[in-house]
Amino acid sequence: MDQHATDVLTDWAALRSGVPPVWARYTDLIVERASGSWIETVDGVRYLDYTCGIGVTNTGHAHPHVVAAIAEQAARGIHLQQNIVYHQPGLELHRRLPERFPNPAPETAYGLFLSNSGAEAVEAAIKLAKYVTRRPNVITFRGGFHGRTHAAMALTTSSAKYRSHFEPLMGGVHLVPYPYPLRMGGPEAALASTLAAIDDLFAGVVAPDDVAAFVVEPVLGEGGYVVPPDGFLPALRALADRHGILLAVDEVQSGYARTGRFFATEWTDATPDIVIMAKGIASGLPLSGILAPRSLLDQLAPGAHGGTYGGNAVACAAALATLDVIDDERLAERAESLGTHLLDGLRDRAEGHGCVAEVRGRGLMVALEFAEPGSLTPRPDLAKGLLAEAMARNVLLLTCGTYGQSVRIIPPLVTTEDEVELALDAIGQGLDAIGA
Ligand SMILES: Cc1ncc(COP(=O)(O)O)c(C=O)c1O
Repeated sequence: MDQHATDVLTDWAALRSGVPPVWARYTDLIVERASGSWIETVDGVRYLDYTCGIGVTNTGHAHPHVVAAIAEQAARGIHLQQNIVYHQPGLELHRRLPERFPNPAPETAYGLFLSNSGAEAVEAAIKLAKYVTRRPNVITFRGGFHGRTHAAMALTTSSAKYRSHFEPLMGGVHLVPYPYPLRMGGPEAALASTLAAIDDLFAGVVAPDDVAAFVVEPVLGEGGYVVPPDGFLPALRALADRHGILLAVDEVQSGYARTGRFFATEWTDATPDIVIMAKGIASGLPLSGILAPRSLLDQLAPGAHGGTYGGNAVACAAALATLDVIDDERLAERAESLGTHLLDGLRDRAEGHGCVAEVRGRGLMVALEFAEPGSLTPRPDLAKGLLAEAMARNVLLLTCGTYGQSVRIIPPLVTTEDEVELALDAIGQGLDAIGA
């Protein structure tokens, strides 16, 4: 290695140490460029990125249509502040995105409020629900992840590390179990037990007419990629209707064609009141938002909510291009069919591996959970081991689950069958290597 290359490498090591450890880290890779399903490091090594930047780059890295839209808008104006002027991509997004409202109610006009991160969109949903109902409480589900700002953190229970040393958190948050079929005796028992917990809560802890909203992930994300029983969202809708509670679905991780539908809520016939979006919305530019009926959204008085950067012009241009790509390349259909291929392949590879307690998922939101056979004691060591083995074979994956006991596989929706095969081989060999 020549002297120059050695210096650069030394510099990188020093530069890396400048990033504070609060950024919990999966790898030490330094990226030179990323395109489609692939990341290339400064050392020239290529990795199949099945993390999607935690479910963000659904259209793949640097999709040419998205890149062109970003460049074009950046040249015409980057920060065209929402309180001061209107900009064209923002106006267009306010027209196009509400058309995607999942299972829309008849004769209902829907609207959009834009912000920057998932947590901020969760805050917007909570504020809207409290404001329009004039009720102080929300009900949410154990294992949920809704972000790290103060209110969002109060709803987040996928791991105690997100809350530890930050208490007291926002009050008025009530928790019930998320229906987790593997760990609650199958889909029917899981749903029954969640609904019984809500009944108990209403009977003993909080009167339903003091509750503003249910906030729920249609597929549990950080908490383990748990697909709930089919009847879950419809049951919440019925309870919400009975008690005048709003149903807010957090589609930050499950949305944007990831599960084979534009929003995962569309796997059911439940009509939500508020849809929380981020991650895939702008293919990686910071943008988030909520969708809600105009009859609710328009009650927020001017200035009651907002922010300097919400609805940034370049991010809105990226969001419009993202919608085009999802439609033109039929990414929802692609996620559904490639997801079936991936799930079948994983089940095949997991055969004979007794510590793979479950292979589950919807579309390209897929996980393997590791546990002791019989007792279901979580095995985070195996999940970590599989990540390392996959990475040694140039495939990047993430963990999830309260104990870190599951491996999540989040391919870009533009991935190919050959790439899925490559990942399956790496995972199959990884399972053999860790002795799962
Ligand atoms: C379901 C869900 N909601 C909210 C968030 C918070 O998003 P952000 O990290 O952009 O604040 C996340 C992030 O992983 C998420 O998965």
